[in-house]
Amino acid sequence: MAKTERTAEPAAPLAAGAPLLEVTDLQVEFRMREGVARAINGVSFTLEAGQTLAILGESGSGKSVTAQAIMGILDTPPGYVTGGRVLYRGADLLKMPERQRRLIRGSQIAMIFQDALSALNPVFPVGWQIAEMFRVHRGLGRTEALERAVQLMERVRIPAARERVKSYPHQFSGGMRQRIMIAMAIALDPVVLIADEPTTALDVTVQAQIMQLLQDLQDERQMGLILITHDLGVVADVAQRIAVMYAGRLVEEADVIDLYGRPCHPYTRGLLDSIPRLDQKGQTLSAIGGLPPNLLHIPAGCPFNPRCRWAQPLCRTGAPPALAEVGVNRRSACHFWPEVAAAAPAAGLASPAQSETAGSDPAVLQTLGAASADALGPDGAQDRLAASDSALAGEQGATAVAPQGPVAAGGPALAGPTPDGGSADESEGR
Ligand SMILES: Nc1ncnc2c1ncn2[C@@H]1O[C@H](COP(=O)(O)OP(=O)(O)O)[C@@H](O)[C@H]1O
Ligand code: SF4
Ligand SMILES: [Mg+2]
Repeated sequence: MAKTERTAEPAAPLAAGAPLLEVTDLQVEFRMREGVARAINGVSFTLEAGQTLAILGESGSGKSVTAQAIMGILDTPPGYVTGGRVLYRGADLLKMPERQRRLIRGSQIAMIFQDALSALNPVFPVGWQIAEMFRVHRGLGRTEALERAVQLMERVRIPAARERVKSYPHQFSGGMRQRIMIAMAIALDPVVLIADEPTTALDVTVQAQIMQLLQDLQDERQMGLILITHDLGVVADVAQRIAVMYAGRLVEEADVIDLYGRPCHPYTRGLLDSIPRLDQKGQTLSAIGGLPPNLLHIPAGCPFNPRCRWAQPLCRTGAPPALAEVGVNRRSACHFWPEVAAAAPAAGLASPAQSETAGSDPAVLQTLGAASADALGPDGAQDRLAASDSALAGEQGATAVAPQGPVAAGGPALAGPTPDGGSADESEGR
């Protein structure tokens, strides 16, 4: 006989006017024999219900550690949260007893990892793994939980879900495994979903399908979505806001259309300039020179100064520039942001004046070469991915890079396209 479904864990009460998630001055360090790596140095942002915030930056900039600190799954030791607040519906997760936090984790704040193969258990059928969420958290019996698993697999558009519910993770392609991860993440109707590079290991066609699925699920459930990525092209179509990270700090935060149209930080500007554009076929791409800093020895002044073509003596001393208001609902951490904002755009980019009058015209994003992967077509999109990887992930080397998934130590931890071979079940063409 089917058991009665256990009531979902009650959502924490929402303090009046409080955002869904409010991260303030978050600090994380890794204490190692070689010294202390200051991985997160005062990160602050908010997330509202139904909003997508993209967190963008090179490998090693602190994106995953930020997510792990929010989820309470930091690798401790050596990682420690040393300061800041993470308010979920007004209550500080960092001050909650672990038992209370565990109730929130998964059921109210869930996470999708990059490396689905490592994050799924290889010895259990996928349906069993999804069903376990309903058995453990909702107290459902085996049959009913398995039925719910089939429904979820159908919801994330896995073809022939009922027949495949007993298949093992290795019997699915990369894209289908990522759909299973998404099914597990949304099983308990979370209010906040954190997707850590959910499409990096997939080929571009599948990337677009997975992004569309995340967008559909978000529309349907009005979740707050944090989308972590190193690929500016991926976020343009999906996110409303972008927070750009460098060496454990936010260096720019703005609405997508404003950030693409008129970057106010040299690093953002460098990232945009490194995206291949349809109108520049055959031309050499502009990449950001140099390497991100070793987090054991972050340079004095602005951490970006050794790589910055706008740098002045002021940038090499004292405290890093604060993330300050530079316009309506946008912030930048650069002493010389007005000069950067006013600088002539790279060929093909909209001028600042154009972008200001462009409003939220989606054509601006196209002009900026941020067309979605499917619009570029497989070849163009692969070129774009390869190039943005060399500008971003491919330049890492001075910093150690942590695995993206909880058990991904042997998996594809470095950001970068590793097409999964495009199994037949990827091209379901939805
Ligand atoms: N488990 C760990 N042990 C030691 N240092 C770590 C660990 N995880 C992350 N770090 C440090 O934090 C930095 C940021 O890592 P991460 O957030 O994973 O970067 P990314 O932006 O690529 O997701 C790394 O460059 C590394 O210095
Ligand atoms: S503060 Fe100076 S070094 Fe840093 S990004 Fe701005 S101009 Fe460049
Ligand atoms: Mg990461």
